[in-house]
Amino acid sequence: MEDNRTPLIIDTDPGIDDAASIFWVLASGRFDVKALTVTHGNVGLERCTINALRLLEAAGRPDIPVYQGAKAPILRPRISAEFAHGTDGMGDSEMPMPQLKPAEGHAACRIVEIAKASARPVTILAIGPITNVALAVLLEPDLKRYVDRVIFMGGAVRVPGNFTAVASFNVVADPEAAQIVYQSGIPVVQVGLDICNQFSFRPADFDALQQVDSPVTRFICQMVQFRLRQIGGVAAESVARSDSIALNDVAATSYLMNPDWFTTEMVVGDVETAGRCAGQTVLDFANRENREPNVCFASGVDSHAAIRQWSWDLCHGF
Ligand code: RIB
Ligand code: CA
Repeated sequence: MEDNRTPLIIDTDPGIDDAASIFWVLASGRFDVKALTVTHGNVGLERCTINALRLLEAAGRPDIPVYQGAKAPILRPRISAEFAHGTDGMGDSEMPMPQLKPAEGHAACRIVEIAKASARPVTILAIGPITNVALAVLLEPDLKRYVDRVIFMGGAVRVPGNFTAVASFNVVADPEAAQIVYQSGIPVVQVGLDICNQFSFRPADFDALQQVDSPVTRFICQMVQFRLRQIGGVAAESVARSDSIALNDVAATSYLMNPDWFTTEMVVGDVETAGRCAGQTVLDFANRENREPNVCFASGVDSHAAIRQWSWDLCHGF
């Protein structure tokens, strides 16, 4: 029988909101998840890998391979975001070590191989610094033939950055990588802070999840507690606002789930790689240089519909 699910690679730095996103993808049953490719990001590569394996174990999906990728950005020292995710990247949840092990091979090589072997072009959901995807583009400059789009949680256009004045974490963590991907010829869907800031997860949004006793719902509720405790406090990345928390990667995953929830615009986009604005996503809304648009910029979203669907899928999908 024909498999109508979308072939998908998730490039990730798990991460509280990475976990909430990956569980959603798995719960939906709509995607043929070919691999989790792990990058440096919220915490170091080793920790992120352990977390990827932990969450697949909780979801009962040992069949999905986890490939380790870049330990550091292409040109810069590594940065991280423990302040937003805890020292273990999972909200200091002290979960047991996974039994699963990473699969053989570098994430960038596997991205190329998986994309080429797929009967249909693969989608890449990139919810961490995008080093692995950039390395894959360098390994195979023709990757655009095999990848239909990269949905990227990154960028800040009409809103402030969450790591510098103008940059979001996933871009400033490796601006050169982001620019390589933006110029690769693969259409980039930029679901950045302009969208994430429209997503407010309130404590009541987790009520339904708390009523369902499964390894996944327990996993999420435990991690989310870490964020909920930060509400009203001083969190440098605005992960905890006065009455709600951010789960930024869930916003990007919402686009994968249903683009109809979004308002978008095709524009020419670059990533600044120099000076104190490094990591800024520069979108040329007037197309001053008369170039082919390469970025589908998401500017608006029905976040209530997305959060409702997220909660429903997680409550019913496992
Ligand atoms: O914004 C910091 C980090 O939190 C990013 O990796 C983002 O994807 C989220 O996980
Ligand atoms: Ca992430």
